[in-house]
Amino acid sequence: MPILREGELDIISTSAEQTGRLGYRLGTLLLAGDVICLSGDMGAGKTVFSAGIGKGWEAEDAFTSPTFNLVHEHRRGKDAQVLYHLDCYRLRNAAEADTIGLDDLLERRGILILEWAERIRAALPPERLWINLRVIEDTRRSFIMEAHGRRYQQLLEEFRALTFKF
Ligand SMILES: Nc1ncnc2c1ncn2[C@@H]1O[C@H](COP(=O)(O)OP(=O)(O)O)[C@@H](O)[C@H]1O
Ligand SMILES: [Mg+2]
Repeated sequence: MPILREGELDIISTSAEQTGRLGYRLGTLLLAGDVICLSGDMGAGKTVFSAGIGKGWEAEDAFTSPTFNLVHEHRRGKDAQVLYHLDCYRLRNAAEADTIGLDDLLERRGILILEWAERIRAALPPERLWINLRVIEDTRRSFIMEAHGRRYQQLLEEFRALTFKF
């Protein structure tokens, strides 16, 4: 069961498939301008989770890791929305967020999914969904989801309702 605390949700995933499903559910709820920050070690599941988001959001193409391109742009058929999937691993600090044109991406009101968001924490908008992923063992991953700002509290509540039917 999740730990109940306002604006925060703790979840344990026991398989890559489960992590994909969690991402999928979140993906169905995203709106233009949403910022989803993923932090945590290599192999924690950020890309698996992002790929699930892409499916739930109904992206036209499958998600891959944006490690080399840094920014992957995704679209979907049903409207003109854009989703940017970013990898900040190579960025050393917030100032380097300029090199990927972060402000420009934010202004376009696309959805932003950032892997290694902790690298550029200070450059990110204060209102965001922050998700810390941690490897517990082999196939167990801990997710701590923190909502910052009203939109994200609402998003987290919707996600909670979809995930845990009390
Ligand atoms: N519960 C789980 N959730 C997510 N990935 C898992 C899980 N258990 C095992 N894995 C494996 O861990 C790896 C996660 O890789 P990836 O999503 O690329 O990590 P990251 O993007 O955080 O570096 C994948 O090989 C996946 O199959
Ligand atoms: Mg990754």
